[in-house]
Amino acid sequence: MSGLRIAVLVSGGGTNLQSVIDAVEAGVLQSKIVCVISNKETAYGLERARAHHIPDYFINPKEENYDERLFAKLQEEKVDLIVLAGYLKILAPSLIQAYRNRIINIHPSLLPKFGGKGFYGLHVHKAVLAAGEKESGATVHFVNEGVDTGEIIIQRKVNIEPDDTPESLQSRILEQIEHKILVEAIKMLEGSN
Ligand code: GRF
Repeated sequence: MSGLRIAVLVSGGGTNLQSVIDAVEAGVLQSKIVCVISNKETAYGLERARAHHIPDYFINPKEENYDERLFAKLQEEKVDLIVLAGYLKILAPSLIQAYRNRIINIHPSLLPKFGGKGFYGLHVHKAVLAAGEKESGATVHFVNEGVDTGEIIIQRKVNIEPDDTPESLQSRILEQIEHKILVEAIKMLEGSN
């Protein structure tokens, strides 16, 4: 088993990022988070990185050549694995090709259900409840050129309770599933490296 040089990409709060930071610090993972990158300057995930002395970078999508600047940063940091953890921007096909099978994403549903364009954050959980589903969950998958369509690495389920709201489902899936399967998926990839 060998450690990977990981870049975590975030757009928001970064609780999934935190679960990876904690697993690295606890020695559960051999890998190192070499940088945290965001397309949002105010993403709380960047503060989490700073609090743990992990280099953090904001790459402004409103400036030219976003994809090239992101790619350059990943190359500079010699990244082996890119972890999308609440990263709400589509990656350029050239980047996906360059890092084929080395980019993973965490999605809060049982893909292929409730995935694709528009299915992010609370929208996912609202749609799951509106569809009358009996169970939901989360999925870690490789990233390909589609949206939420790459090969599934791990998927885990929770039952939906009669009194669930989108918010309660979201927090239960985050805490009970996402934070665990993201770390497990990285561990699996460490093993296959
Ligand atoms: C998570 O539900 C993740 O599955 C989705 O965006 C959310 C990010 O949460 N892609 P956080 O920023 O990790 O707290």
